[in-house]
Amino acid sequence: MTIRLSRRSFAAAGSLLPIACSQAGRSGLATAAAPSAAPLAVNPLVRQRADAQVFRHEDGWYYMTGSVPEYDRLVLRRSRTLAGLSTAEERVLWRHQARGPMSGFLWAPELHFVDGRWVMYFAAGPSGGGEDVFRIRTYAIVCDGADPMTGDWTVLGQFQAPWDSFNLDSTIFTHKGVRYFSWAQREAGIDTNSNVYIAPMKDALTLAAAPARLTVPTLDWEVRGFKVNEGSAFLVKNGQVFMTYSASATDARYCLGLLSIDENANLMDPRAWTKSQQPVFVTCRETSVYGPGHNSFTVDEQGRDILVYHGRDYEAIAGDPLFNPDRHTRIQRLYTDARGNPNFGVPVGNGPLPERFTPAVRRNVMLAHEGERLLIGNAPLPQTQFRSLSFEDGSVQLSPILKPGHRLVASAEGSVTLVAMDTSSVGPGADRFRRMAGPGGTVQFISQAFEGRALAHSSDKVRLAQATDAASTWLAD
Ligand code: AHR
Repeated sequence: MTIRLSRRSFAAAGSLLPIACSQAGRSGLATAAAPSAAPLAVNPLVRQRADAQVFRHEDGWYYMTGSVPEYDRLVLRRSRTLAGLSTAEERVLWRHQARGPMSGFLWAPELHFVDGRWVMYFAAGPSGGGEDVFRIRTYAIVCDGADPMTGDWTVLGQFQAPWDSFNLDSTIFTHKGVRYFSWAQREAGIDTNSNVYIAPMKDALTLAAAPARLTVPTLDWEVRGFKVNEGSAFLVKNGQVFMTYSASATDARYCLGLLSIDENANLMDPRAWTKSQQPVFVTCRETSVYGPGHNSFTVDEQGRDILVYHGRDYEAIAGDPLFNPDRHTRIQRLYTDARGNPNFGVPVGNGPLPERFTPAVRRNVMLAHEGERLLIGNAPLPQTQFRSLSFEDGSVQLSPILKPGHRLVASAEGSVTLVAMDTSSVGPGADRFRRMAGPGGTVQFISQAFEGRALAHSSDKVRLAQATDAASTWLAD
């Protein structure tokens, strides 16, 4: 089967949507008071920036770049906090050329500090129209100074790919002293749009060895709309190297896959990598995030892992999804499971970042819910994530990410239940709490309706207790 040059020309069978959740949801709109030194980020972090790269550099700045809807310029912003990226000034570093191989689409930029210089890699194509616009190759621009936000940027050159074909979504990471380049590329003889490769680098634009092909789209959730593996990103954690990548069409079927390898193994040996047979991060109707993908990894101000990705907050798209502007940059905590592997959960949805709450005196359980039933126990990650929605009077509501239309409501007899927001039978202040800092980094949620009483755990239930009761102290994570 021959594939026309157009990246989007290949149509594969199957149009089912890998979905993490099953119901439509609403977004929480209030923002929570910052429970810690850094302001609490709110999703979407940055609207209409796809393929986002966010990283915290040794200079203490968070840098962020990504694809703009017009695909006509390379942009950069920075902030001292993750939340600050939402409103940070964005600088245009470079615009596509008037003609030639870099006069069309500019996709998926990434900023890296290579051999003492700031280098921004990106995919670009010509503007000749027709299928030629998908004649996409990887290029780089370089900054003439130490500050990427103020220096002058000029073309460094083209990435010397091992063969000449459609290639994009490059990234760089260093492991055990070796700097690797990873990218997506079409390969003759493999009927896919793109596969993911890795190779050690010789310098900013050339490889030191032939590449290893790490993943080819073959599984059903990788070939929906288009046979695509792209957007690789790397995380080293708990003795393993994890590589995420994105698969399928850029509509609601777009999702993340995962490869893993022992950190001491040979990264250039494709057989040493284990490929997850299921996607690890997919559309979630309950939180209203569609097509999550093209991720990067960073850490928050407390050094905790953060997943950066793009996603839309609606499903239906008119026309080619590639030209829909609403792939917004989103972030969320990246937790790990009992075996130390990343637990991606579900895309958490619009609103302030959620947290998990563990009773300070009972660390092996959490606040959770099963449908509309609140509980204290162990549950899948998404059922333990609650966002604090803050109000003018300083009070907060606690709302589960999977049921954004519900919040915790207390009663005079001490019960605490999940009640739909549009339920008018809730007494004044029964769904409002004051989030107070407790001893040893704990938090308490003091009821606004029932003086001196606070959210507490009681066996496998959530109840009100005296605010002096240790059962009313929680650890937020
Ligand atoms: O967002 C533009 C391109 O679309 C990116 O390079 C790729 O990751 C996605 O498929």
